[in-house]
Amino acid sequence: MRSLCVVRVAVLAGMLVPHAVLPATAGPAEDHRIRGWTIAAQLCSQCHVIGREPQQGGFVGPSFVRVADMLSTTGPALNVFLQSHHDRMPSLRLDRDEMDAVIDYILSLKAEAPND
Ligand code: HEC
Repeated sequence: MRSLCVVRVAVLAGMLVPHAVLPATAGPAEDHRIRGWTIAAQLCSQCHVIGREPQQGGFVGPSFVRVADMLSTTGPALNVFLQSHHDRMPSLRLDRDEMDAVIDYILSLKAEAPND
C-alpha cells in the first residue's frame, strides 16, 4: 500500500510542478524530459527515487541521480539496459519514444558542469 501511495504522490507532483523539478530550458527538449519524468513517476518510482530530492526507505533500486552520475551511464547504455532482462528489475515494456523520454530524463540528472 505504501508504495502505491508514493507512486500516486509522485504522479500528482509530476502533473503540478514539472517546471520546478526540471531544468528550465524551454522547448521540445524540455517537453520530452517532462514526458520521461511522468513515465518514470508512473513506472519506476516504486523502486527508484526518480527526482533530485533524496527520499527515505524502501527503494530496491539505485536512485536515478546516482544512476545518472555513474560514468558508465550514457544514452546507449541505458538503451541496452532497458531492453534487456534483469533478475531484480522487471522488464518494462516501453515503446521507442517512451524509452527515449525516460533516458533523456535520467541523463538530465547528471551533475551539471561546475562552470555552467
Ligand atoms: C520492481 C522494481 C523496479 C522497477 C519498477 C524499476 N526498477 Fe530499475 N532497478 C531495480 C533494481 C532492483 C535495480 C538494481 C538491479 C541490479 O543491481 O541488478 C534497478 C536498476 C536500474 C538501473 C541501473 C542500471 C545500472 O547500470 O546499475 C536503471 C537505469 C533502472 N533500474 C531504470 C529503471 C527505469 C527507467 C524504470 C522505469 C521505466 C525502472 N528502472 C523500474 C528495480 C526496479
